[in-house]
Amino acid sequence: MSEALLTPLTARRGGPLTGRIRVPGDKSISHRALILGAMTVGETRISGLLEGEDVLNTASAMRALGARVESLGGGNWSIHGVGVGGFAEPAAPLDFGNSGTGCRLVMGAVAGCPITAVFDGDASLRKRPMRRIVDPLVKMGARVLDQADGGRLPLTLKGATDPLPLEYETPVASAQIKSAVLLAGLAAPGETIVIETEASRDHTEKMLKHFGARIASKPHGDHGRRIVLQGQPELEPAAIAVPADPSSAAFPLVGALIVPGSEVILDGVMLNPLRTGLFTTLREMGARIAEENKRDEGGEEVADLRVSYSTLKGVEVPAARAPSMIDEYLILAVAAAFAEGTTRMRGLKELRVKESDRLEATADMLRVNGVKVEIEDDDLIVHGGGGVTGGGNVNTHMDHRIAMSALMMGLASKEPVRIDDSAFIATSFPAFVDLMKGLGANLSADLS
Ligand code: S3P
Repeated sequence: MSEALLTPLTARRGGPLTGRIRVPGDKSISHRALILGAMTVGETRISGLLEGEDVLNTASAMRALGARVESLGGGNWSIHGVGVGGFAEPAAPLDFGNSGTGCRLVMGAVAGCPITAVFDGDASLRKRPMRRIVDPLVKMGARVLDQADGGRLPLTLKGATDPLPLEYETPVASAQIKSAVLLAGLAAPGETIVIETEASRDHTEKMLKHFGARIASKPHGDHGRRIVLQGQPELEPAAIAVPADPSSAAFPLVGALIVPGSEVILDGVMLNPLRTGLFTTLREMGARIAEENKRDEGGEEVADLRVSYSTLKGVEVPAARAPSMIDEYLILAVAAAFAEGTTRMRGLKELRVKESDRLEATADMLRVNGVKVEIEDDDLIVHGGGGVTGGGNVNTHMDHRIAMSALMMGLASKEPVRIDDSAFIATSFPAFVDLMKGLGANLSADLS
């Protein structure tokens, strides 16, 4: 892409961030609501759906596979599903844009149907590994008819006519791999079993139960789970209320922690313990994050988070915490840059295969803004103290979370921080710039 086609944005120091906002619906739950709704016979109603590009691509894929998917306005959606195993062969390639989650979960759902589909995405998604998903699906009877070098997209998958149940131990802690196997297992007779040695987010399991599937999960080893799904259920339509996404809340939350004098309330943020590693870590660093009005929304515990500017100190983040904060290391690294002392984040190998190589990209984002940072094997080490100089031009590598993290850094650094492209923010948090401006953030497109 040439510079002329990009949409740069600059963040500058200004007054405190103050006010109350609700960040959009959880991305993981939104994808799953559309996919499971499409695998149910009858109408599923969803409220609070994230209407970001990633999720809208999943909605389009569900339509292309034969489900009726309609927006009713205001985040309310209606889906008339085709039932487990009922997808129709799509007439054109399914384009998932930037979204690994959409693509990989739908691969699982398609693997259990006797149809052929081409999976594709943007330049970022075309670089990401797909073998980790396809390997178990092939064991269940699916076939790869075509793929790009290294098992990458575009990839043509032929689903199984008679899908086989599988017992599978995931090679890495990944909710995407687990979910793909479970979605394929819906169409197989008997028990499909997924074993994970580190528990990953459990939204697929919870939602399957909500739709009437028989699925049980037990602890496995110190940090893992063994999940058993009975295949060939008749999924029953069930209303879904999507709670606010803790991974999106992370940006204004850290913004409020690092901009002096700030106090921000984030409404209805989901507190699923498999997603809240960032909040735990920030509290260990000294962050003032109060949980108010705790309640249940859509089967998840949520609370309004009152976040106040805080003096932070560096900590060590254990590798075992990574699955519960896998998307939050970029913004944690920003908080660490403003903390006193050193923060060591352990075991971040998986960050290399996200929307960008987030381990290198995080280090680069900090370095160009004057922060001392090292990568040692799979650990990221950020040396805080004395504030952040800023003044850097950050390459966002088609990655929404780099863009939002760098902008939060610019709100508290001495010099402005510029990002080369803000377009990918729309994949997960379309109203980000407006909501942040409403809290008082100084974000602007000009370079002066
Ligand atoms: C997701 C799982 C995570 C995460 C992604 C969303 C999901 O990926 O990074 O943003 O909704 O299942 P992995 O579980 O593959 O690490």
